[in-house]
Amino acid sequence: MNSINRISGVHTATYLPVDIAAEQQNARVYGNEPHPAGKIALGLESVSLSFGGVVALENIDLSVRPGEIRAIIGPNGAGKSSLINVISGVYRPDRGHVRIGHDRFTNVPTQKLVHLGVARTFQNLALFKGLSVTDNVMSGRAHKARSTFLGQIFGIGRSPSEEVDAHDRAAKILKFLNLTDVGNRLAGTLPYGLQKRVELARALVAEPALLLLDEPMAGLAEPEKVEMTKFIRAANREYGTTIVLIEHDIGVVMELSHYIAVFDYGRKIADGTPEEVRADQKVIDAYLGVAAENIDGGGI
Ligand SMILES: Nc1ncnc2c1ncn2[C@@H]1O[C@H](COP(=O)(O)OP(=O)(O)OP(=O)(O)O)[C@@H](O)[C@H]1O
Ligand SMILES: [Mg+2]
Repeated sequence: MNSINRISGVHTATYLPVDIAAEQQNARVYGNEPHPAGKIALGLESVSLSFGGVVALENIDLSVRPGEIRAIIGPNGAGKSSLINVISGVYRPDRGHVRIGHDRFTNVPTQKLVHLGVARTFQNLALFKGLSVTDNVMSGRAHKARSTFLGQIFGIGRSPSEEVDAHDRAAKILKFLNLTDVGNRLAGTLPYGLQKRVELARALVAEPALLLLDEPMAGLAEPEKVEMTKFIRAANREYGTTIVLIEHDIGVVMELSHYIAVFDYGRKIADGTPEEVRADQKVIDAYLGVAAENIDGGGI
């Protein structure tokens, strides 16, 4: 699917082929442009962050290449959300830098995030529950319009072409995520699983080159997880979106990810392919053994 045009003047996804199917898809979507060697979508360089005495992130290096799905896993409190909050500029690291495409920051300007080609979802849902699903999704394109954000939400001050464009894009994303039928419903009235999908729609409508997902499967029933997995993979393959995926469901992580970084007490203890990480004794000791026990015991 290449119906969504790339935003001019911001970072856009060029695809690093990670498997044959994706490479073929890439050829269709991006004209098979060769990937510049060494280019990264996202980089963390010696990033550290503390809250008082609590070390949330300790000297973290991370490189995510364009087109990759990179999972970040680890026990509760390992620093996963803190990492996304540093990447998205919610937290300023005590030390280190964040590279997003060609730009390098000590403090990512969170208000310019969408212009940098970055969108995110939140560990706890952050929808406008009293607005329709369509309006929620359109709010993800607020950066595209010249009028104010609230003006856009309520349809005040948005030029007719902006209005049509935002509606058009929202409609396409709603269709992509099978949400068209609930477009007019108030977001707060939807079942939790659908609200999680609306959050994904709101992030995707910004046409991000880099998508940060903080626990997209949390609270979902098994069939909803299967659907969400399908949509995340489709976003990666069909839009070429680079994805950083925080997730506790190990089955989903192993199925979706090209590479996995494992965190424990704010440190990165492993970083590699699913096979490498699965076989790593440090990871088994710190997390996978515990995760397996929790899964056996009814959930993590
Ligand atoms: N705003 C904050 N103020 C104080 N401490 C914080 C803050 N945010 C995170 N922390 C602490 O930093 C550490 C890492 O937290 P973080 O939320 O990044 O973990 P996580 O890996 O996302 O955990 P979970 O799987 O439970 O979501 C924890 O000890 C947490 O209590
Ligand atoms: Mg978290």
